[in-house]
Amino acid sequence: MEKLKYERPFLKKMSAGMMDKSGGQNEFTPVTHIDAVAVKQIISEYGSPVFVLSEQRMRHNYQSAVRAFSTRYPKVQFAWSYKTHYNNAVCKIFHQEGSWAEVVSGFEYKKALRNGVPGSQIIFNGPDKNADELKLAVENDSLIHIDHFEELYLLTDICRQINKKARVAIRVNMDTGIYPMWDRFGFNYENGQAWQALNKIAESDKLQLVGLHAHIGTYMLSSAAYGVAASKLCDLAMNCKSQLNTTIRYIDMGGGFPSANTLKGAMGLVQTPTVDEFAEVITTTILSYGFKTGELPLLILESGRVLIDDAGYLLGSVLANKKLSDGRKAVIMDFGVNIMFTSFWYDHKISPAQEASQFNEEAVMYGPLCMNIDVVRENVSLPLLNRGDHVVVHKVGAYNMTQWMQFIAMRPNIVLIDTNGRTHIIRKAENPEYMEQLEIVPEHLSTQK
Ligand SMILES: Cc1ncc(COP(=O)(O)O)c(C=O)c1O
Repeated sequence: MEKLKYERPFLKKMSAGMMDKSGGQNEFTPVTHIDAVAVKQIISEYGSPVFVLSEQRMRHNYQSAVRAFSTRYPKVQFAWSYKTHYNNAVCKIFHQEGSWAEVVSGFEYKKALRNGVPGSQIIFNGPDKNADELKLAVENDSLIHIDHFEELYLLTDICRQINKKARVAIRVNMDTGIYPMWDRFGFNYENGQAWQALNKIAESDKLQLVGLHAHIGTYMLSSAAYGVAASKLCDLAMNCKSQLNTTIRYIDMGGGFPSANTLKGAMGLVQTPTVDEFAEVITTTILSYGFKTGELPLLILESGRVLIDDAGYLLGSVLANKKLSDGRKAVIMDFGVNIMFTSFWYDHKISPAQEASQFNEEAVMYGPLCMNIDVVRENVSLPLLNRGDHVVVHKVGAYNMTQWMQFIAMRPNIVLIDTNGRTHIIRKAENPEYMEQLEIVPEHLSTQK
């Protein structure tokens, strides 16, 4: 008879009383495969922890988002938000699908150019574009979204120097009924700054006003807010036509649609609107605003999170189990907040990666950092896990692989599963040589006493 696996004894608190109608969030259905590739095989080939991305899921998400908008509106263009995930392989998947690039720094701008995106299909956002970067963007005929008056004047100056005209939009911030307002980016609608900026641009012989842009926030749970934003941008577009004799070619609604992740404390009870719901509100608002036939603006979306979050997984392993001083269980993993920045906002779903015990226990899940902030989940109900067992963390595709910190530990491999189920490393794990490449030890410190 086969020897049964040892299962350590555990204590479970019995709760008396009525059952909670919403139930707890039990996460013990094992996830042994991702896109038909065995989790164990990925870990044995690429190590633990390791990020995994599904190309199939990214393409699927992109195509269904495009469908949601283009079935409702005749002129739609997506621009991949580089900051959400700027690994070149990832960007190229979205560019292959037809996406332009949306960038917020010179670094991202140059990355998009190197990824083969034509300059005219790069949207340059963000509050910090220096003179050289602006010059490069003008020379490449990119769409420059002006953030503040200082940038407007700098850009005008650059255009004079190189005797070229820049294609520009302004970023507009506004009250959409969602608070706190994101009013630190762009020009405010209500206080008239947006209109002042548009007047200045219309008067300039060096700036060509082509669009209007808003990005009202991220992980937005209200589709109605997009209706408000769209109507305020339409209002500006109409005024540009009637008072400044300028036709607005595009309205860029930014990103911000939520992924199906679980915000901390929401326990899965908050319903996130679908892309279809956002599409319905935005397109209905623009279509019914009264643009003349032939003057309907192109609708641009800069979605990030919603297109990639659920395509990303983090595979990791258990290092140890502990009992805390107050009696709670703790499980220590080999990945922490250093590579999972979004664990500050989300209760990420975590599944065991192997057949698991039928018993579950509540535990605090910690990362490996020698630092108190390293809490991956404050309370997770998982089957009994032992050292060496693996887990799969879900929906980590957005922002983690750009916001990750090189703190205490080095960053792990990123693996892409292509649409044929083949695996590819798309970013190698860091090593000490790479880490020290930019360090310089002054002469007087280079010899040991
Ligand atoms: C200007 C701009 N566009 C697009 C995005 C992408 O947003 P999300 O990932 O929420 O769709 C961001 C992110 O905050 C942004 O700042």
